[in-house]
Amino acid sequence: MNLILLGYPGSGKGTQASVLSEKFSLFHISTGDIFREAISAKTALGQEVSGYLSAGRLVPDKLVLDVIKTRLATETRGLLFDGFPRTVDQARELDDYFASRSQGIDAVIFLDVDEEAVVARLGSRRTCPKCQKIYNLLTSPPVKEGLCDACGEKLILREDDKPEVIRRRILVYKDQTEPLVAYYKGMGNFCMVKGGKDPESVTQEIAAVLKIKNV
Ligand code: AP5
Ligand code: MG
Repeated sequence: MNLILLGYPGSGKGTQASVLSEKFSLFHISTGDIFREAISAKTALGQEVSGYLSAGRLVPDKLVLDVIKTRLATETRGLLFDGFPRTVDQARELDDYFASRSQGIDAVIFLDVDEEAVVARLGSRRTCPKCQKIYNLLTSPPVKEGLCDACGEKLILREDDKPEVIRRRILVYKDQTEPLVAYYKGMGNFCMVKGGKDPESVTQEIAAVLKIKNV
């Protein structure tokens, strides 16, 4: 099974991906996590992409596709994409990749959440820079204030979760990523899920949609 999670910044892609990858034994690929790890490890990739992330702009397609191809080269499990593809060109490249392996995308799950709700979520998000676990100060805080439940690391506010960068990311989403809704609707594998409920209900709705689609 190969799945894509699509939606606004803050729509819950990362939150759902970590549960779904476990539940369905899928390989979770978050391009955002890959870039943030590279930035924190100060690699050449990190230096190249850092300015794009801190400004809330998309990393150029070629760079993203090179990273994805490297990650997928040896992977045999089903794939769960979180934050990729993000442009129509990236989506076309992914289609070609699957076609070359006689595979396809079983479902594109669109997490439908209001713009005001995602802005509020991102402002109160905290993340673990070590294991990438996602928290929310209002709805899913850590047990010990400021520390990751899973690994004990100090939680951070992502650099791109500052109000001015959130606004830019939403504009970039509308301009460059929203066209993917029409693209995947045209391919027939698009599924809309109400992403505004609590995380467990959203997971249940996704599982139900996958069952109906028989994937
Ligand atoms: P990326 O890391 O992919 O960020 P994003 O798409 O902007 O999405 P987020 O990670 O902010 O949100 P999310 O949907 O994962 O929500 P989350 O689960 O955390 O990309 C970052 C940057 O990297 C980009 O701006 C770009 O520069 C670059 N990049 C990455 N991929 C790229 C690509 N393919 N091409 C080009 N550039 C790329 O949840 C958010 C908050 O809400 C959390 O606090 C969470 O606890 C809470 N929450 C989650 N679900 C619920 C719920 N159901 N109810 C209440 N609260 C909830
Ligand atoms: Mg995310």
